[in-house]
Amino acid sequence: MLAGPPMSSHDRSSCSSFYKGGRTLGALTQNLQMLSTSLLLILLPVLIALCDGQSPRPTCTISPLGVGHDDTDQVLAAIAQCGHGGNTVLQDGVYNITRKMTWDLVDAKVDLHGSLSFTPNIQFWLNANNTYRVVFIQSQASWFVITGSDFEVDAHNTGGIQGNGQPWWNFFTTTPRADGDGRPISLTLFQAVRGVIRNFAIQAPPFWCNCIAESQSVVYDGMLCNASNTNPAFAGQNIVPNTDGIDTYRSDNISMFNWDITCGDDCLAIKGNSTNIVAQNVTCRGGNGIAFGSLGQYANLTDIVENVFMENLTMTRISSTVQPNMQNGVYFKSWDATINGAPPTGGGGGMGFTTNVTLRNVVLDRVNRPTTITQTNGAKSGDLPSKYKFENVHYENWSGTSLTNELIALQCSSAAHCANITFTGFNVTVPAGTTPEIVCQNADGVSGETCS
Ligand SMILES: *[C@@H]1O[C@H](CO)[C@@H](O)[C@H](O)[C@H]1NC(C)=O
Ligand SMILES: *[C@@H]1O[C@H](CO)[C@@H](O)[C@H](O)[C@H]1NC(C)=O
Ligand SMILES: *[C@@H]1O[C@H](CO)[C@@H](O)[C@H](O)[C@H]1NC(C)=O
Ligand SMILES: *[C@@H]1O[C@H](CO)[C@@H](O)[C@H](O)[C@H]1NC(C)=O
Ligand SMILES: *[C@@H]1O[C@H](CO)[C@@H](O)[C@H](O)[C@H]1NC(C)=O
Ligand SMILES: *[C@@H]1O[C@H](CO)[C@@H](O)[C@H](O)[C@H]1NC(C)=O
Ligand SMILES: *[C@@H]1O[C@H](CO)[C@@H](O)[C@H](O)[C@H]1NC(C)=O
Ligand SMILES: *[C@@H]1O[C@H](CO)[C@@H](O)[C@H](O)[C@H]1NC(C)=O
Ligand SMILES: *[C@@H]1O[C@H](CO)[C@@H](O)[C@H](O)[C@H]1NC(C)=O
Ligand SMILES: *[C@@H]1O[C@H](CO)[C@@H](O)[C@H](O)[C@H]1NC(C)=O
Ligand SMILES: *[C@@H]1O[C@H](CO)[C@@H](O)[C@H](O)[C@H]1NC(C)=O
Ligand SMILES: *[C@@H]1O[C@H](CO)[C@@H](O)[C@H](O)[C@H]1NC(C)=O
Repeated sequence: MLAGPPMSSHDRSSCSSFYKGGRTLGALTQNLQMLSTSLLLILLPVLIALCDGQSPRPTCTISPLGVGHDDTDQVLAAIAQCGHGGNTVLQDGVYNITRKMTWDLVDAKVDLHGSLSFTPNIQFWLNANNTYRVVFIQSQASWFVITGSDFEVDAHNTGGIQGNGQPWWNFFTTTPRADGDGRPISLTLFQAVRGVIRNFAIQAPPFWCNCIAESQSVVYDGMLCNASNTNPAFAGQNIVPNTDGIDTYRSDNISMFNWDITCGDDCLAIKGNSTNIVAQNVTCRGGNGIAFGSLGQYANLTDIVENVFMENLTMTRISSTVQPNMQNGVYFKSWDATINGAPPTGGGGGMGFTTNVTLRNVVLDRVNRPTTITQTNGAKSGDLPSKYKFENVHYENWSGTSLTNELIALQCSSAAHCANITFTGFNVTVPAGTTPEIVCQNADGVSGETCS
């Protein structure tokens, strides 16, 4: 068990009976809310110590304070008390979160039965003072960061995050969107080691659903991301760009099992220095498909992507009233070698390579383009060709349908040819009456398909 030695049933019952004998910590907190925060913070350790006297692992249990109340203090207090070597239980219901929040978890378990509802206070969150900027790439903002080691957060398929994204999506139909503009990532894992996120739902993320940065050995098992527009005024439009399921960055040994992503952008985006990545049983509903990239945005940084294994992936087109796009199956993209502008929005010129990628058992349902490699992100005419290299990419057992005949488009750079791209059992159907087109530009050692 990752979260440390299990409590004996005696420990568990004596601890919970303490809370039952009085009230739940949440109810207690409710009574104390007229008191100052500092008094609350003084009392909490006493409660925990009483419990702790009978138990090797403290447990903090809270429940929502109710509509009109702010739960941020009690959630942070519980994590502060039980987030190192303890268990924290957030009982069912909606927790009103009104400001940025970090959970520092060490040898800890959190049972998140309810949902953390981040207030849809757009101007508040867009003020950079009110979010974290721990994700280096594109200076993206975060309102909720989990960090630490040897922890598990289990949302039991009932809890997670309510991002209240609809007002954000409405707002950004008339305000320009740009990377790094402060729209917050819903769940950020930052400098997390040996963590587990289980059966977690993120409803209506305003921006990226997840990001993992500077982390190692993390397992996500069971993740729902759902960026579905419900405003009839925007039916049939993609008003949820940038609602990526996850971006992985500067992280090693990350597993994503059993994901279900409805989005208007990259379902998974594997960015620079993502190594030993596994994705299994991932359904992408709408959006751009699974991306490797964009890579090479920072001229002074090398982007390495190595040892990626993905299997049992489904890309499926959904009702166009909710989400009109289902662009790619899996695609690879790098910036070119000329620097145009600066990150977060511009850039280019970055070096590096993507190697040893296996994409197995992939089912496509009416995608526009099954697979592409492009190396011209941010490119202008006359730019230098990318020096970023894609090699050892293996496609195995693909089926389903494409809405165009552009079956495979490997448009690699003249300055860094793709190499060893293999296709085994690649059987995606193009529209009746069309001939599949397979483009292999600057691609060496393509096997299993005949380039046209
Ligand atoms: C959340 O808390 C704020 C007070 O900080 C309050 O104004 C707001 O009504 C609460 N929201 C909900 C949905 O309870
Ligand atoms: C952010 O905080 C700094 C330091 O407190 C302050 O000077 C600045 O005005 C704040 N910015 C905004 C937009 O509130
Ligand atoms: C990778 O992560 C898994 C899950 O945390 C862990 O069991 C395994 O030991 C890690 N592997 C390496 C090589 O660190
Ligand atoms: C996704 O969000 C839409 C709109 O809020 C909702 O109707 C639908 O039930 C959600 N799907 C899931 C699986 O939560
Ligand atoms: C695949 O993941 C979904 C959740 O997205 C889950 O309901 C389903 O049971 C998983 N399938 C398998 C074979 O594990
Ligand atoms: C690379 O460039 C970015 C800006 O483009 C800068 O913020 C960062 O500090 C630089 N990194 C290094 C290692 O020089
Ligand atoms: C990736 O790792 C390499 C080698 O450790 C390092 O030189 C490079 O700066 C890293 N790139 C990023 C984006 O952090
Ligand atoms: C390629 O990646 C797989 C994991 O997907 C790993 O088992 C294998 O050892 C890697 N191959 C090389 C040559 O590193
Ligand atoms: C992936 O799908 C294959 C074929 O249906 C199945 O044999 C395999 O167990 C699946 N893998 C996982 C990790 O679910
Ligand atoms: C190929 O993929 C399909 C769809 O995932 C799966 O049902 C089938 O079992 C796979 N074939 C093999 C040989 O694994
Ligand atoms: C192509 O990739 C496969 C699998 O990673 C590897 O075994 C093989 O040696 C590579 N071929 C070349 C020519 O690099
Ligand atoms: C390719 O897929 C089509 C449509 O599903 C199917 O009829 C055909 O048998 C498949 N071919 C192979 C070689 O698997």
